[in-house]
Amino acid sequence: MNVLDAIRNRREITKFLDEEIPADTLEKILEAAYMSPSGNNLPSREFLLTVQREKLDQLSHATPFVPWLKEATAAIVVTGRPDVSKYWLQDASIACGYIWLSAVEQGLGAAFGAIYHAEDPAESTKRETLVREVTGIPEDRKIVAIIGMGYPKGEVKPKKLLSREEIVYYENF
Ligand SMILES: Cc1cc2nc3c(=O)[nH]c(=O)nc-3n(C[C@H](O)[C@H](O)[C@H](O)COP(=O)(O)O)c2cc1C
Repeated sequence: MNVLDAIRNRREITKFLDEEIPADTLEKILEAAYMSPSGNNLPSREFLLTVQREKLDQLSHATPFVPWLKEATAAIVVTGRPDVSKYWLQDASIACGYIWLSAVEQGLGAAFGAIYHAEDPAESTKRETLVREVTGIPEDRKIVAIIGMGYPKGEVKPKKLLSREEIVYYENF
C-alpha cells in the first residue's frame, strides 16, 4: 500500500473483531514508530505495546473517551520526555501518526485516545496516573496517547470533511 492510499483509507476505528494480531504485524507497526522523526533526532518519545486483555480493559478507564480499548486486541502507549526535548509533544504526536498509518497498511483499524491534557493538569495527572499504574511507566514521562488497534468490525461510515478551500491556502492566507 502506498502512503497516500494509507492516508485516504485511514479512519478512526473503534469496533474490533476478537482476533489476535500476529506478533510480526505488531513489530512492523512498532518499527514505524521507532523510525519516526523527532526534533534534533532526540529520543523524546517511547512506545509500550500491550496485548494483554486485562491491561487493555484497565486502560479503557483512563479517560471517558477510550471505551473502545475493551474491544481492541492491542494498544501502543506513546510517552513523551520533556527532560529530553522541548519538542516532546510534537515528536510523540508524529509517531502516533506513523503508528496509525502503519496499522492501516497492516489491514488493522486504530483509534487515538488522548491521555495528556494540556489545559487541565489535574485531569492529565488523573489519566496519566491510571496508565502508569497499569503499565509501570515512570513519573518523568508524559503519557501522550494510547493507540488502540484490532481487525475492524462492521462497515465504516464515509468521512465528512470541510471543503479543501477552508483548510488549504496557497502563498497568502
Ligand atoms: C489529538 C487527537 C485526540 C483524539 N482523542 C480521541 C479520544 O480521546 N478518543 C477518541 O475516541 N478519539 C479521539 N481522537 C480521534 C478523532 O476524534 C478522530 O480522528 C476524528 O473524529 C476524525 O475521524 P477520522 O480519524 O475517522 O478521520 C483524537 C484524535 C486526535 C488527532
